[in-house]
Amino acid sequence: MKIITVVGARPQFIKAAAVSNVLRSQHQEILVHTGQHYDENMSKIFFDQLNIPKPDYNLGVGSGSHGKQTGEMLIALEEIYLKEKPDLVLVYGDTNSTLAAALCASKLLIPVAHVEAGLRSFNMNMPEEQNRILTDHISKYLFAPTETAVKNLINEGIKNAVNVGDVMYDAILHFKTIAKEKSAIIKDLGLDDKPFILTTIHRAENTNDINRLKGIIEALNESGTAIVLPLHPRTTKYIEQYGLSFNSNVRVIEPVGYLDMISLEMHGEKIVTDSGGVQKEAFFMKKPCITMRDETEWVETVENGWNVIVGTDKEKILGAIQGFVPDQPQKDIFGDGKAAHKILAAINEQA
Ligand code: UD1
Ligand code: UDP
Repeated sequence: MKIITVVGARPQFIKAAAVSNVLRSQHQEILVHTGQHYDENMSKIFFDQLNIPKPDYNLGVGSGSHGKQTGEMLIALEEIYLKEKPDLVLVYGDTNSTLAAALCASKLLIPVAHVEAGLRSFNMNMPEEQNRILTDHISKYLFAPTETAVKNLINEGIKNAVNVGDVMYDAILHFKTIAKEKSAIIKDLGLDDKPFILTTIHRAENTNDINRLKGIIEALNESGTAIVLPLHPRTTKYIEQYGLSFNSNVRVIEPVGYLDMISLEMHGEKIVTDSGGVQKEAFFMKKPCITMRDETEWVETVENGWNVIVGTDKEKILGAIQGFVPDQPQKDIFGDGKAAHKILAAINEQA
């Protein structure tokens, strides 16, 4: 089968690192990079370090408003689909690259496979919620990472989803050992034996609202704890625009590659984040996770007591940084680390 996989944003490169080489063992894959993320440390570093096949096409779309970015992707993808005539288009997650790739395929009557189907925050103000609902409803193959995701789809009348487990769990299991060998970030940052909290911030609802971003930054500044913060370029831009600043306990660094990120997650005492992927990785690494959002798609991590939702209220974040301790053993939520092989088997079976 000829499969076109479309990626564009950092978490999608990591997911493709788990799936692409497995798909290629039995099928022809053409990899398209939309160019949504383009800085070296948001894109190239992942392809170089994670043995992701080189993209066959890079659309170079870059940043822009939702309409412009998604529209440019649609136009460029249509040309490629018409030329390559794929049997299947495979997409990951919930970014604008996901929606553009799925919509373009659907209009050309090319079947779509959606990896990470069925996640819901039930907050339609999130661009990701719009992207994933629309993508799920035009996909033929729905690969859900959890049982909750399968149930969400059933509730929307989609009954053919398969719970394959989470491809990011596959990725962690594979790259953890490599990160232990190759990442020098703990030494480079002088963090050996020094306790710290790892933080990431990039969600649009937090960066686009000065009060939310201020609440987060004030909490980090007043936490009295060493914080390491690899900062997404979106957030850097808004912090400058709003004139906000960090105290000396917060060490802001450039976005890091996946191996360094895994190493930081392994060594951090807690993780404070608004990222979807990092919430899961906190769980994989058995680290308490404090989520600076008003809801999460990864509800099982909260129900299991390893993740707490605190929003962006300064006092709530501070309370959780000081007091949140998981009190239950972890349940098996994200499968067995063989999601990529299950995706391959399901595609073979249903094709
Ligand atoms: C996107 C996804 C989000 C995902 C995140 C992963 C959408 C709507 N959002 O958000 O779901 O969680 O990726 O990281 O698709 N920028 C750079 N260099 C880059 C990339 C971005 O400077 O290489 C800056 C630009 O100022 C840009 C801003 O970051 O305007 C936002 O980038 P964009 O790709 O639009 O959204 P993300 O916030 O990255
Ligand atoms: N990540 C990374 N370097 C960083 C920050 C995050 O490699 O500086 C990885 C992280 O380990 C996870 C993924 O990027 O695998 C999460 O991506 P992000 O938080 O950008 O997006 P989301 O998962 O929220 O869509």
